[in-house]
Amino acid sequence: MNYKQLYMETFGCQMNVNDSERIATMLAETGYSVTADPAAADMILLNTCSVRGGAEEKVYKRLANLRPLKTAKEGLIIGVGGCVAQQEGEELLRKFPWVNLVFGTHNLHLLPDMVRGAETGERRCETAFIDNEQRLDLFPTVKGNTRMSSFVTVMQGCDNFCSYCIVPYVRGREISRRSAEILEEVEILAMSGVREVVLLGQNVNSYGLKTENEPTFAGLVRKVADIEGISRIRFTTSHPKDMSDELIACFGDVPKLCGQIHLPVQSGSDSVLALMNRGYTRNSYLGKIRALKAVRPGIAITSDIIVGFPGETEEDFEQTLSLLNEIRYSDLFYFVYSPRPGTRAAELPETLTREQKLKRLDRIHELQRSITREINESHVGTIQTVMVEGEGKRPGQVSGRVDCGRIVNFAGANTLIDTFVDVRITRAYQNSLLGELV
Ligand code: SAH
Ligand code: SF4
Ligand code: F3S
Repeated sequence: MNYKQLYMETFGCQMNVNDSERIATMLAETGYSVTADPAAADMILLNTCSVRGGAEEKVYKRLANLRPLKTAKEGLIIGVGGCVAQQEGEELLRKFPWVNLVFGTHNLHLLPDMVRGAETGERRCETAFIDNEQRLDLFPTVKGNTRMSSFVTVMQGCDNFCSYCIVPYVRGREISRRSAEILEEVEILAMSGVREVVLLGQNVNSYGLKTENEPTFAGLVRKVADIEGISRIRFTTSHPKDMSDELIACFGDVPKLCGQIHLPVQSGSDSVLALMNRGYTRNSYLGKIRALKAVRPGIAITSDIIVGFPGETEEDFEQTLSLLNEIRYSDLFYFVYSPRPGTRAAELPETLTREQKLKRLDRIHELQRSITREINESHVGTIQTVMVEGEGKRPGQVSGRVDCGRIVNFAGANTLIDTFVDVRITRAYQNSLLGELV
């Protein structure tokens, strides 16, 4: 078959990355193979993110940049999918006349048909939500993977409506995939050589709670752990309010479950957490952290923080800093609050200047930098199993991840790629470790 070339750019979260992989699988059947060169492309797809204003702006800038390519190449198809497509819909076709396709977050299955239409000059927008079980029947899966690690989406959408967040509006209602289909996907991946799966959803730990005859997320993790060939399991993202004792227990007695969890706290202040509609308090969150550290000493915990939420006082902010000192996250992602259209927080009056918000962001940055560095340093001298995934930073090095998720570079032959080896950690940097084979 003579393949046409598809160039894809993915913005935003891992769910989007996995959607892009599934889009690529589907469009391979329509005659497109993926290229890394936009100039060689017959079709360019942007899979977009709308979580903050800046993420949305990035998409418009990129679309403006694509115009000359379209002028230069007659018949080039340009498509926009993902969360900005869901949010803006037809508006994108109006504002960017060189865009051919707009597809929403529930409409991936329509893409092959939309692409055939676009090949004959059609412009089309599909953003209807399918907020029922039928969505599960339309879920395109990835068949096989040539890498050692693979994402597996276990649920879609979000019903939590955190007051600042646009995700429930652009991803729709929460739906858990059928466990039988998830397990089949993992089995196929394991047979194609995948050794690590990362279970994905906006809120994975509420998996199955709204569906009859399905396991809980903890039950699902145990079933995935039973699959031969799978050596490591990770998952993201968990919501603190749905972090059950049953799931915490898995960290104690499922050895394949890696000692790493992303458990976004957003703020250390109870009054801000209430305004954010997060459904937990500082204390109940700390209780879960203590329980996790008790069953899996050394577990690497990471988090997200929003600074400058409307009404956040200096005292509230200091509560966040003290929480960071108390928990000592191994890594942290921090963002300036960005009002999003249609969310409840967007109606709250902003109480801080941009300068004040950036100052707070800076203070978080300074504090976390040293904590991350110290935690990295604490690995020096230990022996850790590394899943070797590719070439290292320097020539003659290979690189991979240890159980807690940190990247390690060490001297070794390329033949080690796609294997597990034991490595002694010899040095710590800000974002990675250096090791030597033992
Ligand atoms: N479902 C996940 C992640 C959602 S988006 C969860 O519940 O944690 C990833 C992160 O973006 C969030 O954790 C939050 O820290 C940040 N975020 C979301 N909306 C935001 C907004 N309006 N302004 C700033 N940061 C935001
Ligand atoms: Fe957004 Fe909250 Fe849902 Fe996460 S849990 S996606 S922050 S609404
Ligand atoms: Fe962004 Fe959509 Fe993910 S808004 S964070 S791409 S769900």
